[in-house]
Amino acid sequence: MKIYAVADVHYPRFARSFEEALSGLAPPDLFLLTGDIVNRGSAEEYPRVLDAIQDSLGSDFPLIGCYGNEEYSDIRGKIVKYVNDRMILLDEKSTTVMVDGKSLGIVGTQGSLDKPTSWQKKNVSGIKDIFARRAVRAESLLKRLAGKVDYRILLMHYSPCIETCEGEDSRDFAWLGSRKFYKVLTNVSPDLVVHGHVHNATVFEAKVGATLVRNVALPAVGRITELEITL
Ligand SMILES: [Fe+2]
Ligand SMILES: [Fe+2]
Repeated sequence: MKIYAVADVHYPRFARSFEEALSGLAPPDLFLLTGDIVNRGSAEEYPRVLDAIQDSLGSDFPLIGCYGNEEYSDIRGKIVKYVNDRMILLDEKSTTVMVDGKSLGIVGTQGSLDKPTSWQKKNVSGIKDIFARRAVRAESLLKRLAGKVDYRILLMHYSPCIETCEGEDSRDFAWLGSRKFYKVLTNVSPDLVVHGHVHNATVFEAKVGATLVRNVALPAVGRITELEITL
């Protein structure tokens, strides 16, 4: 089955390279969007990203996503209103979709950072607890899907491992991802993790135990990530 994934379109900032990346692609079986799809809280741009996808690829496949840090929490309700009938957005939730006769269990979360940014520290009360809770929640959702689906995917915006942050300053990992999510991977081994956020990565793929991790940030990868999964 053919899965496409992208993050960090920051629409309209990288609109041009996004539209170029879409042109010439064949329709997938599933399209995943892992956050920072719009720039700085521009909720009204979200449908334009879906328009671009559907203009190039049609709409005969599920679109599933999670939020990034630029989909600020106070505009998420607005985004849902704009795109609710066109895609599924998972915010610490899971869903199961049938693709090609196989069941895919998908968990979506923004993920966590080891260290909150100074903005988060100032503006989001209890941010450390929120980050800790997100990892616990993702682990529990993945556990619930174990044995019930053919393939488990974790969609997250921040990175779960340092390997797909290579190219960034390694001292910055605390602001790119979280070791708590690395533990989630080693504890419950989802088949695939798709993340974004790491714009300057030079390594896009890693294995953590049996789990395949892909960084699909558009500014890093320079194209839509195409995954061919055999089940
Ligand atoms: Fe980003
Ligand atoms: Fe981000």
